[in-house]
Amino acid sequence: MSTIESVLHESRVFPPSADVVANAAISGMDAYRALAAEAERDYEGFWAKLARETLTWHKPFTKVLDEANAPFCTWFEDGELNASYNSLDRHVEAGKGGTVAIIFEADDGTVTRVTYQDLLQRVCRFANALKKRGVKKGDRVVIYMPMSIEGVVAMQACARIGAPHSVVFGGFSSKSLNERLVDVGAVALITSDEQMRGGKALPLKSIADEALAMGGCEAVKSVIVYRRTGGKVAWNESRDLWMHELVANESDTCTPEWVSAEHPLFVLYTSGSTGRPKGVQHSTGGYVLWAAQTLKWTFDWKPTDIFWCTADIGWITGHTYIAYGPLALGATQVMFEGVPTYPDGGRFWNMIEKHKVTLFYTAPTAIRSLIKIADADAKVHPKSYDLSSLRVLGTVGEPINPEAWMWYYENVGGARCPIVDTWWQTETGGHMITPLPGATPLVPGSCTLPLPGIMAAIVDETGQDVPNGQGGILVVKRPWPSMIRTIWGDPDRFKKSYYPEELGGKLYLAGDGSVRDKATGNFTIMGRIDDVLNVSGHRLGTMEIESALVANPLVAEAAVVGRPDETTGEAVVAFVVLKSARPMGDDAAKLANELRAWVGKEIGPIAKPKDIRFGDNLPKTRSGKIMRRLLRSLAKGEAITQDVSTLENPAILDQLGESL
Ligand code: WT7
Repeated sequence: MSTIESVLHESRVFPPSADVVANAAISGMDAYRALAAEAERDYEGFWAKLARETLTWHKPFTKVLDEANAPFCTWFEDGELNASYNSLDRHVEAGKGGTVAIIFEADDGTVTRVTYQDLLQRVCRFANALKKRGVKKGDRVVIYMPMSIEGVVAMQACARIGAPHSVVFGGFSSKSLNERLVDVGAVALITSDEQMRGGKALPLKSIADEALAMGGCEAVKSVIVYRRTGGKVAWNESRDLWMHELVANESDTCTPEWVSAEHPLFVLYTSGSTGRPKGVQHSTGGYVLWAAQTLKWTFDWKPTDIFWCTADIGWITGHTYIAYGPLALGATQVMFEGVPTYPDGGRFWNMIEKHKVTLFYTAPTAIRSLIKIADADAKVHPKSYDLSSLRVLGTVGEPINPEAWMWYYENVGGARCPIVDTWWQTETGGHMITPLPGATPLVPGSCTLPLPGIMAAIVDETGQDVPNGQGGILVVKRPWPSMIRTIWGDPDRFKKSYYPEELGGKLYLAGDGSVRDKATGNFTIMGRIDDVLNVSGHRLGTMEIESALVANPLVAEAAVVGRPDETTGEAVVAFVVLKSARPMGDDAAKLANELRAWVGKEIGPIAKPKDIRFGDNLPKTRSGKIMRRLLRSLAKGEAITQDVSTLENPAILDQLGESL
């Protein structure tokens, strides 16, 4: 049974225990409903109150939401603040400088602790160094770094001087990095000699050098390199600088640049259904508000908690729930450089035990892969570790199948810890639809109900509400503080992608299909309704992979679809027509590997097709449109039930149905 069907037939319900309810800040469903009702009653008042309580403003705001230029909305616009001040200084000023901000565990197990006081000084030194290199308010800085305290320092230092950062995940290729450097118009690039993952050193600086050499990014005047491994790197004297040398003589104080709440804090690229990746632009005030507030609500965060989000800072989850949310709250968090399977599949459980993690946040793909390993080896089964410190578990990025949910609940959470299945997106900035640990009855596989103030709904193709029980398009009816502000440099694309005329132009289109339960109103996400795939919780545009494939001189045509995968959720399947004859046997296998490596080089290893099929042609309608539904069936190995009478050459279906 598919995940969606099994969720729709899910009858198990796990209400929070009396103990959990009693100790939670939002205690019981009535408390949740009261908050949601408050937001409905006085939308602006609700958000204004949260913004005043949660953030420290240099200049208070007088306006809350401005929709005059909708869908380009502003929040708290005349207020001034600084994200780095809110993450660091204010805790130090409140006497909490000695609190550990980050417990960093390196790939090899080395642990480094940094307090709020230390972190503030390091951020100030680096901010001063950036300023000396001529980086100023409004300039964009690209960060291409491993998971590291230095990575957080780099992000926070940019925030401190008002220079929007754009973090590029360390797994992206030189070409992807180049595209982002060019699109965002970066003036500086912060990278590292190498990164350590699973005992292996992987290059970053040499990829960065390649990216810069591709051109179009001549505005990059400084390449600042964090020395992680000491591995050999090429050096360009006129441009390259060591991070440690740069900060050595800098002052450890730096006055924050006070910016409008609407000043862009960062641009983060994500895949869309068409063309190039989109630079999702986020604000300062609304974004930091929601990063802090959602961590408090969704994980019932308390000052005594040890929070651990396993995401990479190269994704939105690492931005919101590592670099900003926990710091804005003055929380103590664990940060991990490595991978969950090194030195063995018990790494996560070992780290939870060692650091007494109370709130743990990871992706369903990680859980699914660890289930397999634990089943095969009792030594690395979570039951072999003391996980009694855990209080709340979370998942993010993709649907979780009920079986994996149950395993996580029983084996990791000891049937004691609520699981928050958080639905959100790069564009939403933070959690949108999620259970609250001390209130919401949990249903495996469902992200349950919207957070207070989030007006999520399901509509049909014309934007009309559909009744519960009927599937439709997931939308958000009112703007919220941490919403995407625009697509960097492309406001038209922003409008068309997220506020399409077909839906009336006023509804935020998430791009997911969803259905609400008739009785509870719980949301279940049914997956993307556009040509976007979700592989291991990472978004990939099918068109992006297709363009990468056709850029190969051997390829005439390519079509990419997703196929359900037991571990990664979805897997990439590519149908390829070569310029030469269709390859067979060993030739086909060899070419498939070549194309896989090619895609890895063009985009990054995460985009490599799992399965490549060669045909003499692709199945097309008479008007020449590729029949993707047919390809999806072929990818899954399903019998073809669609009408294929319009196909010019039905024999290609047999060719394309063959897995190598
Ligand atoms: C897409 C957003 C959320 C931050 C990391 C990914 C899918 C996300 C869930 C969930 C089912 C989910 C959606 C969404 N997604 N969370 N809890 N259940 N699907 O951010 O790369 O912007 O991807 O991930 O399809 O649209 P992203």
